[in-house]
Amino acid sequence: MNNRRFTRRISRAVSAGTLAGLAFVAVSCVSHHGPEEDDARVAAWLKKLSLAEKVSLVHGSAIFTTPGVPRLGIPELTMSDGPHGVREEQEPARIARVRAERKDDKSTGMPVGSTLAATWNKDLALEYGRTLGAEARWRGKDILLGPAINLMRTPLNGRTFEYMGEDPWLTSRMATGYVRGVQSQGVAACVKHFVANNRELDRMSVDVRMDDATLREIYLPAFEAAVKEGGALAVMGAYNRFRGEFCSQNPYLLQYLLKREWGFTGVAISDWGAVHDTAAASRPGLDIEMGTAAGSEFLGEPYLRGLRDGVYSREALDEKVRRSLLLRLKLRIGEPDRPEGAHKTPEHKAIARRTADEGIILLKNEGSILPLDATKIRHLLVVGENAVRRQSVGGGSSETTPPYEITPWEGIVCRLAPDGSPSRVTGYESDAKHAEALLAEATAAARKADAVVFVGGLNKALDTEGGDRTDMRLPGGQDAVIEALLAANTNTVIVMVSGSPVDMSRWAGKARAIVWQGYAGQEAGDALAGVLFGDTNPSGHTPCTFAKRLADYAPHALGTYPGNNGIEAYSEGRLSGYRWFDAKRIEPEFPFGHGLSYTTFDFGDATVSHDGQSVRVSLEIANTGPRDGAEVVQLYVSPPDITEKTPPQELKAFEKVFLKSGERRVVTLTLERRAFAHFDPVLSALTVKPGRYGIAVGASSRDIRTRTAVTLP
Ligand code: GLC
Repeated sequence: MNNRRFTRRISRAVSAGTLAGLAFVAVSCVSHHGPEEDDARVAAWLKKLSLAEKVSLVHGSAIFTTPGVPRLGIPELTMSDGPHGVREEQEPARIARVRAERKDDKSTGMPVGSTLAATWNKDLALEYGRTLGAEARWRGKDILLGPAINLMRTPLNGRTFEYMGEDPWLTSRMATGYVRGVQSQGVAACVKHFVANNRELDRMSVDVRMDDATLREIYLPAFEAAVKEGGALAVMGAYNRFRGEFCSQNPYLLQYLLKREWGFTGVAISDWGAVHDTAAASRPGLDIEMGTAAGSEFLGEPYLRGLRDGVYSREALDEKVRRSLLLRLKLRIGEPDRPEGAHKTPEHKAIARRTADEGIILLKNEGSILPLDATKIRHLLVVGENAVRRQSVGGGSSETTPPYEITPWEGIVCRLAPDGSPSRVTGYESDAKHAEALLAEATAAARKADAVVFVGGLNKALDTEGGDRTDMRLPGGQDAVIEALLAANTNTVIVMVSGSPVDMSRWAGKARAIVWQGYAGQEAGDALAGVLFGDTNPSGHTPCTFAKRLADYAPHALGTYPGNNGIEAYSEGRLSGYRWFDAKRIEPEFPFGHGLSYTTFDFGDATVSHDGQSVRVSLEIANTGPRDGAEVVQLYVSPPDITEKTPPQELKAFEKVFLKSGERRVVTLTLERRAFAHFDPVLSALTVKPGRYGIAVGASSRDIRTRTAVTLP
């Protein structure tokens, strides 16, 4: 199918205006043949492949490639990081080729996963995925190693920025759209890291333990949704152990849950170097061992020898190979009608910018100090190392190499030109070498300014794969600088650029305005300036709880992190994230789901109807303020009986509603039976207990505007 036909098919599907339509396109883009035809082709290949050729297909031949079998016309399978942008080429052989064929290996630098989650915009997640899928296709990739969807459990986790927050439902909705988007472009999304990779400290060895209810209700649902609703064609096993066995060779996870129970038909790949034992990996479950560029360690020679000696199952090998071959057919690798992709297009830039815009969270805005009026500010002072730091670089395997990255300082300078010309002082440096002098300079400058914008937070040397932070404190003496600026100038705005929660307790009460921007990709600076000066009405909401102190988070309150003797028990159980703060009545700095706007929204009373299958909750939302804007309507469900181990309320539906000033609309949120289900350890199944379920609708987990209830039989 040539590009025009492919575009026509997309437009037909989009004109159908349904996700289902796009899902259809997603499937049709990835597989032109019927399943029977594909199965027959795979069976024919399996008959012709030698044992050695089969074994070659179940491990990497280079860092991001598994080989093909040219004599049979079997193409190779190539992969690329990362979850928020196609990483620059890592394989020498490909670098020359991509430079020759594609000029360069730069790709659109999207905002990170936690920023996408902060948009709470499911439709945008689909567009975000489509953008990444097209860029991966353009670079000749078959599998994109994203989305990364492990939940935030401790804010210290080095990869918090990559993930989509602390809640299973928010993550599952965003991940499902992302996966459908990527795969609509003829590229497999690879959901990672399956499962419970919720920290980087000792990630290669830690053994995570939790009960079944916690696993089924908190840590599995996003992966389950990505597979069953998103149709993910690849899943990456995590590095850590789960209940004693490494995830990437764990039959309970990869065979029983993923394939038997969820009906996963794609490939299960290991994280890089995450396989530790040939016998374990030879069992049904893992399909491809990756991270073996230097010659496979486990599913290579040792595996071949064991197969020849009759030690390992040939049926299990054939199943691994079958899935890997089937994926090639689903993706139409080597076929002329496969989507060509595109990169660094204006459309992709627009999606990157829209995600950056909608991912900015207005945490506080006392006295409406924001938006700043550019016509009235003669002298704006910008302070902070993060005003000039480019955040695309670093952070580990998710690093991107965009064609450019606009810093906050550049965005502000451009926004104020040609009339205004802001000035800038460093204020702080992460290494805190000249803290005293920088603080004095910033304080003196602030006294003379009409307004001050402080841009601080963290960076990808602190928020990074392979390590956890040791505390939540801001580096470089930022707290002292912020306090001094707030004392020197009442028109001071605090901007936190960070990939994970930080301790704001020393000054959050004193600041009149606080804005949160994650690592927002190549368009970051323009997006921030747009919000600061009111071109954009902020609509982001926190994807995780921002606590006043580290000890308020469950793993730190219980002392279960980082664990003992290599084992970390999730003893908080289902009370993860805001569930813990609600159950223990802890006041956070900013709650889960929080986000302000430059306009105001009214919530009408919620009404409930149900037809025995699903429950529908309707209410009118009105934009009662002076500006067009968007509100995130959130619905939390409470069970009939709450024990000390039961989450008091859980997010089970949300909608981002865009309303013009004065506009009002009835919003209906639908709850399927699963929304009321809890894991019954006796039945070992998710079940819905009869009873009266509370329904709370609001603008955050702590800003509930209307309550109702439904009684289920
Ligand atoms: C890394 C990461 C994984 C990444 C892979 C390939 O160790 O855990 O997310 O996709 O290796 O770079």
